[in-house]
Amino acid sequence: MTPLTIAIPSGERSKTFALTCLRKAGLVIPELEQSRSLQFDFPDVTLLLVKDPDVPVYVDVGVADCGIVGKDWILEAARDTYEPVDLGGNNYRFSLIRVAGSTNRIERIATRYPRATRVFLRERGISADVIALNGKIELAALTGLADAIVDIVETGRTLTENGLIENEILMQLSTRFIVNRAALKLKASRLRELIHCLAK
Ligand code: PRP
Repeated sequence: MTPLTIAIPSGERSKTFALTCLRKAGLVIPELEQSRSLQFDFPDVTLLLVKDPDVPVYVDVGVADCGIVGKDWILEAARDTYEPVDLGGNNYRFSLIRVAGSTNRIERIATRYPRATRVFLRERGISADVIALNGKIELAALTGLADAIVDIVETGRTLTENGLIENEILMQLSTRFIVNRAALKLKASRLRELIHCLAK
C-alpha cells in the first residue's frame, strides 16, 4: 500500500479529533504513546504533529500529502491546498469583538489572524491598523491595546467572562481535510479512498 504522510495539529483537543476522523475512515493508527515525539511512523501512515498554523504549510510544500486543520488557519495561511472534506467538529466562528458598550471608531484591531482579518476588513470597506498577537487576544480589547479584536468564538464563555461582546460574526468555521495537489495525482487511489471515507 502506498504510504501516506498526514499532518495533524499537536494540540490535545484537535489532535484527538483528527485521529478519531482518520481511524473512522479506516486507517490503522495505534494509540500514540505519550511522549515528546513529533513524528509517528506506522506501516502505511506517517503522522506529523505540527502547530495548527503550520498544517497548511506542510501540506502545500508537499512534506505531508494531506492534513487536518481548522478553516481559520487555512484562511490565514492562504496556501494553495485542495480542501475536499468538511469534517465538522466543533463549530466555531470568526468574530469582530469589542468591550461591551464601546462606540468609538475602530482604528486598531488585534488578532492572531492578521491576513484573514485584513481580507475581512477589505470586504467591508473598513480601514484599521491590524496588530498581530500570539494569543489571549481578549486582553488587547480589555486593556485598550486595540479598539476591537478578531478572534474565534466557540462557546462564547471567554467573551462572557471578560465583558466582551461579538459585534459581528464574520464567518462560520469548522475542521477541514486538506490535500497536496501533486499528491492527489501521485497517490490518487489512496487519497481518493480516504477522501471518500472521510466524507462519509
Ligand atoms: C481560543 C480563542 C478564545 C477562545 C474562545 O483561545 O482565542 O480565547 O478559544 O473559546 P470559547 O468561545 O469557547 O470561550 P485558545 O483556547 O486557543 O487559547 P489562546 O487564546 O491562548 O490562544
